[in-house]
Amino acid sequence: MIQDIVIYPDKRLKIVSSEVTEFNEELHQLLEDMYDTMVNKKGVGLAAIQIGVPKRVLIINLPEEASNDEEIKKDDTLEIINPVFIEKNYSWKNQEGCLSIPGFYEDIERAKHVIVEYQDRHGKKHTIDTDEFLAVALQHEHDHLEGKVFIEKLSILKRKKFEKEWKKKFK
Ligand code: CO
Repeated sequence: MIQDIVIYPDKRLKIVSSEVTEFNEELHQLLEDMYDTMVNKKGVGLAAIQIGVPKRVLIINLPEEASNDEEIKKDDTLEIINPVFIEKNYSWKNQEGCLSIPGFYEDIERAKHVIVEYQDRHGKKHTIDTDEFLAVALQHEHDHLEGKVFIEKLSILKRKKFEKEWKKKFK
């Protein structure tokens, strides 16, 4: 079911999410709700706290490169539970946006290559070794689990400008 997205500066976005210990029906329902919400809002990633659930759960569905098929496929959705970064290497700058900060995009510098250990919806452990777009998406969504949003990475000047414009937008 499509859920409401928690919008910045809602304080819930600052919550450090807790580890998932039960890989049950409730978790699976959360994953379904996250997927429905992400697709509805045309996002490429979502953390559970963005629909108000403080659990270490995130999903990512990047559009396939060189694909004419605009339709997003559910099977391509990466479901990541309790992620832990094992390695972060090199640096890469890419434009980011966030469903919790709709309409705002900015170049952000992050690690270009990452290795992440995580669990799937059944609790089975996996390792993902990836770079560029997926590496950046993993870092962006993982930040949400730590109570952080990407605008915290802006320079002081850019952040001030953003806050001013954001307040105007929601007046
Ligand atoms: Co985000």
